[in-house]
Amino acid sequence: MTTPMLQLQNLKKIFSRNGQAGFIAVDGVSFDMAQGECVGLIGESGSGKSTVANMIARLLNPDEGRIILDSADVTRAGVRAVCRKVQMVFQSPQESFDPRRTLGDGVGESLLNAGKSAAEAREEVARLLEAVGLPPDFAGRYPHEVSGGQCQRAAIARALAIRPKLLLCDEATSALDVTVQAEIVALLSRLIRGRGMACLFICHDVALAQDFCDRLLVMHRGKIVEEGPPDEIVQSPKQEYTKLLIDSVL
Ligand SMILES: Nc1ncnc2c1ncn2[C@@H]1O[C@H](COP(=O)(O)OP(=O)(O)O)[C@@H](O)[C@H]1O
Ligand SMILES: [Mg+2]
Repeated sequence: MTTPMLQLQNLKKIFSRNGQAGFIAVDGVSFDMAQGECVGLIGESGSGKSTVANMIARLLNPDEGRIILDSADVTRAGVRAVCRKVQMVFQSPQESFDPRRTLGDGVGESLLNAGKSAAEAREEVARLLEAVGLPPDFAGRYPHEVSGGQCQRAAIARALAIRPKLLLCDEATSALDVTVQAEIVALLSRLIRGRGMACLFICHDVALAQDFCDRLLVMHRGKIVEEGPPDEIVQSPKQEYTKLLIDSVL
């Protein structure tokens, strides 16, 4: 057995509401991810998916449990300590870029922070834009000058820039038109597999996750209620909740 790339052990997150502590958003979540594995985390809105991703990216602290990344305990680590290994792509690409800076600056920022020269970063940005299917002159455009799909491509380029081991995609295609959504999923699939990157693909659309992922985890009210190979989950779900999710009743 090789050591998992990521291990979540009994993660718990409790939020306060209306000044009262005690809403359990994530309730004892445990799972492992192997190097290069693509895992789908599915569940209706409010089930705790983003909270799990935000804890892995170290944007939120868990109240209980442990996060082990590449054999290191990062449960209390800061964002900067994990950002070379874990990058995130969010639902609203336009909001995730600074509106006053070009896409090229946004994509290249982490390269400059990693000590590359401006010229090296510029060359690498051009390569990254090409890898996500954007023309080189897009480096000079601002977020409001491109479409949602194009901006999401740039967000993927930015996430890939420092070659993370794990990409967290939180509803990364949910805000896009169906055809653009399919293009972005195809792009992600190609990049992840080509680079041997692991991916946690968070999504409420079961069919999309079924096509894309090696394994699915079904989340309901803060807990993983079912997990397995995508086709098995979709064709013979064991939990009533999973059936409702697949039938899109939720
Ligand atoms: N910062 C927060 N403060 C209070 N409650 C929150 C916070 N973030 C999320 N929640 C609540 O936790 C639950 C899970 O949210 P979230 O992880 O965003 O779910 P999902 O991504 O599956 O839609 C929801 O009920 C949400 O309202
Ligand atoms: Mg969410």
